[in-house]
Amino acid sequence: PPFWAVIPAAGVGSRMRADRPKQYLSLAGKSILEHTLDCFLDHPRLKGVVVSLAADDPYWPELACARDPRIHRAPGGRERADSVFNALQTLGELGAEPTDWVLVHDAARPNLARSDLDNLLMTLAHDPVGGLLAVPARDTLKRADADGRVSQTVDRSVIWQAYTPQMFHLEPLRRALADAQDAGATITDESSAMEWAGLSPRLIEGRGDNLKVTRPEDLQWLAQRWAQR
Ligand code: CTP
Ligand code: MG
Repeated sequence: PPFWAVIPAAGVGSRMRADRPKQYLSLAGKSILEHTLDCFLDHPRLKGVVVSLAADDPYWPELACARDPRIHRAPGGRERADSVFNALQTLGELGAEPTDWVLVHDAARPNLARSDLDNLLMTLAHDPVGGLLAVPARDTLKRADADGRVSQTVDRSVIWQAYTPQMFHLEPLRRALADAQDAGATITDESSAMEWAGLSPRLIEGRGDNLKVTRPEDLQWLAQRWAQR
């Protein structure tokens, strides 16, 4: 189905400890954010992209894609959820329909495979709720007690790691984020807002190499992989 992309890119990347926000660090000759955008700009069903950016961001205007007419800007917010919400408001102003599909994808995930993107779009095309890419837990999982001792081994077979893109209809997502915000709920991804609204997003198994660049070793790992292909 046709879809919009929302890319929250207003974080500071504190865990990366670099001289600039991690989405502007270089990977194989381009910024991480440009690689991330390429995953979507290459797709024939894309209607447009909204990128949420920090107000004082000096790096964005330097990118060639800043002049791409398919890419629109929204103001970043205090938390990731605020940045996403602002982008959804911008989508409304651009004339997006309430029922349009929106894929929210972290700027810091430059290694999204086209096969994962297509699988998400195809699997959820007729889903009433929407869903997200996710990866089944691999390691044996332990619950800790207050003393740092194992209190329990958790059933791994029902545990997934939430990735992005997360795919929902524009208006239900916008409303869920607004309501969760008003209630003071902690919202760390789009799915948790929909869950908060009482819905059950579908988990779509994705590739583990669609990792979020969070710490320096993540970028080293990706750079090595990209050098080999
Ligand atoms: N993000 C955003 N607005 C915020 C916070 C985060 O748009 N107020 C974006 C980041 O730019 C990133 C994505 O949300 O693309 C995932 O967030 P995270 O990995 O936590 O990035 P940062 O917040 O930048 O990193 P850190 O938490 O280490 O400071
Ligand atoms: Mg963060």
